[in-house]
Amino acid sequence: METDALISKLNWFYSLELNQVDLYHAQYRAFQGTYSGLVFERLACVEQDHADNIAEKIKELGGKPTVLGDMISHIIGKLAGSAISMAGLDETLSMNILLEQKAMKDYKVLIEKLTQDNHQDQELLKILQHNFVDEHLHSEWSRTKIIAMKHSEFSLSNPG
Ligand SMILES: [Fe+2]
Ligand SMILES: [Fe+2]
Repeated sequence: METDALISKLNWFYSLELNQVDLYHAQYRAFQGTYSGLVFERLACVEQDHADNIAEKIKELGGKPTVLGDMISHIIGKLAGSAISMAGLDETLSMNILLEQKAMKDYKVLIEKLTQDNHQDQELLKILQHNFVDEHLHSEWSRTKIIAMKHSEFSLSNPG
């Protein structure tokens, strides 16, 4: 893979990761005081780590970390801001799963391409693989939370 193509692909991830930092921050504020709010706060930190580790690699390759646009609106088909203010927790979690899975899909494509090319930078491959695993865990937590919410619909909290 040409260096320029790799830099622009990494900038795509850099943009998505930074968008997710903002999104999880907004969700943290919207659900503050709940366990989900605490999880969103933590996820914002993890996505910031992803943005940082990708930015480092872009610079190492001679590029400049650049936000290419609003990736989230592009992926979910509406403005991220409106998606947060309108959504309850279940819709929020579904949106998060969609975004995490899009990130996973694209990380997988790049990891496989670099592996196929016999790319020499093992550290980059490890960063991409670890980011993939984190996104996997994020989407699985959201899925578990949705299931837990559905179960609570079928039980009485104060049966007396
Ligand atoms: Fe991420
Ligand atoms: Fe994530």
